[in-house]
Amino acid sequence: MDIIEAIRGRASTRAFLDTPVSRETIEAVLEAARWAPSGGNTQPWQVAVVAGDLKQQIGDRMTEAFRSGDHGKADYQYYARRFPEPYRTRRFVCGMALYDALGIERADKEGRAAQWEKNYHGFDAPVELYFFVDKTLEQGSWVDCGMFIQNVMLAARGFDLETCPQAALAEYPDTVREALGLSQEKKLICGLALGYPEREAPVNNYRTERAEVEEFTKWFGV
Ligand SMILES: Cc1cc2nc3c(=O)[nH]c(=O)nc-3n(C[C@H](O)[C@H](O)[C@H](O)COP(=O)(O)O)c2cc1C
Repeated sequence: MDIIEAIRGRASTRAFLDTPVSRETIEAVLEAARWAPSGGNTQPWQVAVVAGDLKQQIGDRMTEAFRSGDHGKADYQYYARRFPEPYRTRRFVCGMALYDALGIERADKEGRAAQWEKNYHGFDAPVELYFFVDKTLEQGSWVDCGMFIQNVMLAARGFDLETCPQAALAEYPDTVREALGLSQEKKLICGLALGYPEREAPVNNYRTERAEVEEFTKWFGV
């Protein structure tokens, strides 16, 4: 696949086929992704690949917590507590586009909550990836991990797979660590749903917008 097509054609996918993804295919995705750059070639990313009963159990536990009013405590603050403009509007527009695609009205709190809960089972993708970085490392390693995650998303497309990066899967890090037998030293960055997309699903058929290059770029001496 052409690199520009791989980048432009990626979109967060929130409905998947039941078709399993073979371990060999996941390994091939990670084999490509591991060539991400990192400061001093430290390669700080660590990945847990989760499927089957364990994936279901983790999702059930998160859903149960969410329904009980426990909104979890991620290892770090991903979203700003108050987004100033233009970020606030961008986020609002993105949320509305998702709910519009699903026919969920703005006032339909239950409908929105039901859609949100789908996060916890990775939108029923057959596989979830969880990304960790050691507690001892600093912010630079988290940047490196982000580059690795983007590589995973792009490499997946080379195997007809699609993904959804998910901060929601990092809301209950202790649940994930406990299920995977990991210590508190492993900080959970985010999760990622991975699978073959249900291409016709309405939720997979809207596209988010982007600011034009001139809006975020200043040119100096070019
Ligand atoms: C680190 C990260 C975390 C995200 N967390 C979630 C999430 O928990 N649930 C979700 O539905 N989408 C999540 N998204 C997807 C974003 O909403 C999406 O990337 C954005 O709206 C742009 O749309 P696109 O990915 O289709 O281009 C996340 C994206 C990133 C990069």
